[in-house]
Amino acid sequence: MDQDARQDGIDPRQDRPLDIPAAELAGLVEATAQLAAGYWSGLDQRPAYPRTGGGETARLFARPWAEDGRGAAVLEDFSAIAEHSRPSGGRFFGYVFGSGEPVGALGDLLASALNQNVGAWRSAPAAVAVERAVIGWLGEAVGCPGFTGSLCGGGSSANLMALAMAREARLPANEDGVRPGVVYASEQVHMSIPKAVALIGLGRRNLRLIPVDADMRLRVDALEAAIAEDRAAGRTPLAVVATAGTVATGAIDPLRPIAAIARREDMWMHVDGAFGVLASLAAPALFDGLSEADSLSLDAHKWLYQPVDCGCLLHRHRDVAQTTFSHSGDYVRALNTDPEEAFAFFEESLELSRRFRALKLWLSLQYHGRAAFRAAIARDLAHARLLEAEIAAHPELELLSSGPLSAVCFRHREKDNEALLRRLIARRRVFLSNATIDGRFALRACFVNHRTTEDDVREIVAEVIAAAGEVNG
Ligand SMILES: Cc1ncc(COP(=O)(O)O)c(C=O)c1O
Repeated sequence: MDQDARQDGIDPRQDRPLDIPAAELAGLVEATAQLAAGYWSGLDQRPAYPRTGGGETARLFARPWAEDGRGAAVLEDFSAIAEHSRPSGGRFFGYVFGSGEPVGALGDLLASALNQNVGAWRSAPAAVAVERAVIGWLGEAVGCPGFTGSLCGGGSSANLMALAMAREARLPANEDGVRPGVVYASEQVHMSIPKAVALIGLGRRNLRLIPVDADMRLRVDALEAAIAEDRAAGRTPLAVVATAGTVATGAIDPLRPIAAIARREDMWMHVDGAFGVLASLAAPALFDGLSEADSLSLDAHKWLYQPVDCGCLLHRHRDVAQTTFSHSGDYVRALNTDPEEAFAFFEESLELSRRFRALKLWLSLQYHGRAAFRAAIARDLAHARLLEAEIAAHPELELLSSGPLSAVCFRHREKDNEALLRRLIARRRVFLSNATIDGRFALRACFVNHRTTEDDVREIVAEVIAAAGEVNG
């Protein structure tokens, strides 16, 4: 060993320094599998939220990256990380967050083991074919057969890609630079839409937030009036975003009338279905008009219960996707006589290096079969209706929103609901999040959780009443 190498402890002759001998690797895999299995089987016993505050959590995991490896002992950290994590158990009802179906998680492990770059067939032949097949399943499952698209990190990325495509379709920016166009969405729209409008250079002042009706659905008359006003002022209506499952209450905008307006006005119609669209597996009638959309977002890490991340953009315009996302223009060049082999996701979506997200769907969706997912979604819907009935049976509680999907907003009539929610979370038996409904602070439960039982649902009301007894005024 030369002098320099000895000083920094590096032996340059050590071949393959990160390689793990096969027997040791098998042991590591086994130990990791046991950790995962133990975690899943013990989920019911875990509190709904960790006790640790922010400072303590940071202190627990603040440590230097040591010069010497710890080997398999590093897996011992999993127990502390799990203890101070928010568990994916049946009593978590916050946000819109899927429950992490275990076969999907195993799919993520295998996807990382394969380590494919799913940017193009050339770098990931089977993975590209699997993702394209899964995209076909998803399109067909939501009543939009023939739609194409790609998987992505989540609804926010899908919405961003959709609005970039809308702009390129109606006011092409690649040639002429960004020209202002107006995007319309209901005032209940998810924050990822204003973000996307800003990121594609339109500026948030070119987003019109349209008032909603008593059911929190975009008002079609107000949309028409806003479009007419913009046209009269010489502005160009570009796109309308309909939401199929608003994040606060799960409202579904009137898709068919909005589609008719978009067609008449030559606007792109995007449906943000990140929360709700997958419920069409169990309740397709709720989504009448969906297939009229130019594009739609959905999140398999929400209502297909997959571990994050697993978003999806579906659309009907491969040509627009290519003009929006291809930098090289290679998609028009015959790289290969076989169109399957010439296919590149990076020529029609945002990312170049891409995870093999489709493998978890491939395994999980086929392991359980379509009927099981339909039944799980139907059960989530039934749980939401059960909670509404429980709330109605308790006069001290007031229901603030109901149906048609699985978000339920309510409040305690006499208590400070913000203090109540803090107390409820501190009790750690159920986890709810919050929303603002007509200016009022609401407790919000959302059911996208295959582990939840009817008892868990009843526990929500019992816990709210118990927490109310522990807060003043
Ligand atoms: C309606 C809606 N759109 C978009 C998103 C964003 O999705 P993601 O968190 O996967 O980026 C959400 C998340 O809750 C949502 O409810």
